[in-house]
Order: sequence, then C-alpha cells, then structure tokens
Amino acid sequence: MSVFTRVLSGLIMVATLQGQAASAAEKLVIAHRGASGYLPEHTLPAKAMAYAMGADYIEQDVVMTSDDALIVLHDITLDRTTDVASVFPNRARADGRYYAIDFTLAEIRQLRATEGFRINNGMQEQGFPGRFPMNQSTFSVPTLQEEIEMIQGLNQSTGRQVGIYPEIKGPEFHRQEGKDISTAVVQVLKDYGYTSKDSPVYLQTFSYAELRIIAEEIFPAAGIEVNLVQLMGNDGEYDWMLAEGGMAQLAQFADGIGPSMGLLVTPESSKGDVQITPLARRAHAANLQIHPYTFRSDPGLVPDYAGSFAELLRIHLFDVGVDGVFTDFPDQAREFLRTSAAD
Ligand code: G3P
Ligand code: CA
Repeated sequence: MSVFTRVLSGLIMVATLQGQAASAAEKLVIAHRGASGYLPEHTLPAKAMAYAMGADYIEQDVVMTSDDALIVLHDITLDRTTDVASVFPNRARADGRYYAIDFTLAEIRQLRATEGFRINNGMQEQGFPGRFPMNQSTFSVPTLQEEIEMIQGLNQSTGRQVGIYPEIKGPEFHRQEGKDISTAVVQVLKDYGYTSKDSPVYLQTFSYAELRIIAEEIFPAAGIEVNLVQLMGNDGEYDWMLAEGGMAQLAQFADGIGPSMGLLVTPESSKGDVQITPLARRAHAANLQIHPYTFRSDPGLVPDYAGSFAELLRIHLFDVGVDGVFTDFPDQAREFLRTSAAD
C-alpha cells in the first residue's frame, strides 16, 4: 500500500468514525415520565434522576384540575398513581374513577403519588413488579410550572440544556369539560421562554385534530411556534398517516412523529427476520423527526426479535434510523449511545 493510499484510507476511516460519532451523538434520549423505571412516574425525584442520568429531554404528560392548574399526570384520572381513593373516597364518578378535573390543586396536593398499580380482586397490584415499591416513601403530583422550574434550575446549575417534552393529555375530554388545555399549556411554554422551534421543547399529542388547532390557531394567537410531534398508536385512527402520502400531509403541521415502536418494526418480526415498515423512510422523506415509544428493559418487555435491550435500541436507532427514543431507562439508552459513538 502506498503512503498516499494509507493516508487516504486513514482519512476515510477518521471521517467514517466521526460520522458514526456524530450520528450517535445527535440522537435523543427522552426520559419517559422521568426515570420511571427507577422511581414513581412523573414525580420530581424521577425527573431529577432522569436529568442526572443524562437525558436530553424529559417528558411531562399534562392534565388540568378543576381550578385550571396544569399538573403532570399520565392518566386523566388519579386512580392508578395516587392514594385518592383513600383520601377522597366519595369523589369518584359513576364509573368509579377519580378524575383529576374534579379536584382542585389544593386537594391534589393532599395526595401521595406512588408507583403505578391496578386493582385486581380488590387488591392493589403493582404494574411493573420489579420497580420501586408502590406506596413507599413520600411523593407528590407536581404542576407543570414546578417541573419546568426544576429543569430550568438544573440547566443553570449544571450548564447543560435539557429540554422538556410536554404531552397534551385528552384534549377532547378537556374540551367536553369546558377546558382548553392546549391554550393553557402553550401560555406556560411562552411564560417560561419556549417560543420558537429553536427552543428545547417538543409539544406532543395523540390528537391530529388538536395538533392542527395548536398549529393553526393557538400558536398564532400566542405569538409563539415550537416543535410539534404527532403521536401515533396502533389503532385504525392513524391508518391514513401510515399510507403513502400520509407523512407529507402531516408535515404541514408537525415537526415529528412519536409512533409506537410496533409501527416501525412489525410485531411479527423474529430474530434474524426484523421487518422494518416504510414509516421511518416516509417520515424522514417528509422531514419529520421520529421519536418512538416506549423502550423498557423490564423482564419480558423486550421484544423477542431483539433479545436484549441494547439490541432493541440498536435496531431502532441505527437500522430503522430513528432520531430519539422515549425510554423509562434513560441511563441505559445514554450508555448505549455513548458506547455506540465510541465504537
Ligand atoms: O408520549 C409518548 C408516550 O409517552 C406515549 O404514550 O401513553 O406513555 O403517554 P403514553
Ligand atoms: Ca406521553
């Protein structure tokens, strides 16, 4: 090999390694409900842990109280993640559920948040058995503003710039109840300086109708415009988005998609036969970012086609080519990306 060839191949190798490093470094770790694999979801300790674990963005699911406070809570009901049934036993609706929108913020501050559970034969059964024990220690339901202030405070004290990733939960439900939750969330974003597509925020919703209202009415009225992400589930509601031309249509209003990972790699996939759908290719062709959910390393929750959590991450981040992942385990995703960048 001539000196010229050796130098050239060395330069190519360096360029290739830099390319790999850059692509791994650009991918986002989005802490799903915080470091929810380790601490009760959507509590401030879970968010602080996610921050310390190196998340790039931290997610907030947002619902509204009767007195128009915005709280960080995944469900529109308080049943699964608080002790509401013990504290306010007479406040369930006819369906037996305790809706956050029926409670004032002062009442919600009386509740203890806990690791999620379901009721089975009248007994509480923890949703993820290996995680933080339910009903242990003392946690509360934060407001959106409290959480943003903690993240922005950490940004100042650490010099990092970790973003927020709020989701408008049940926008149609809130409208039926006489509440415009999206306008309220957008006002909070504006109040805290998230005003442009360069701001470290993605605003997400499962509702295409709400996404359009936000893009076409609420943003112009507020005088801001931040990144919008259309969430996509496995039900028929999203079929048109999955069809040819769907991503281009969506890109009129959205900056990205947040699909269930099963929309990117078919559940029928098996080891050695990983079937990647056209969705990622179509989304990127329409200049949409792709942030699938939810990557969990709990026993039994890694699909068989991957076999390990690291392989699941590798398939999605590098074979499918997504731009970030929602994960309950931000430390593991960060470590995977760190070692991928170093390879
Ligand atoms: O928002 C992304 C992901 O969190 C969607 O699922 O039900 O956990 O809000 P969910
Ligand atoms: Ca969410």
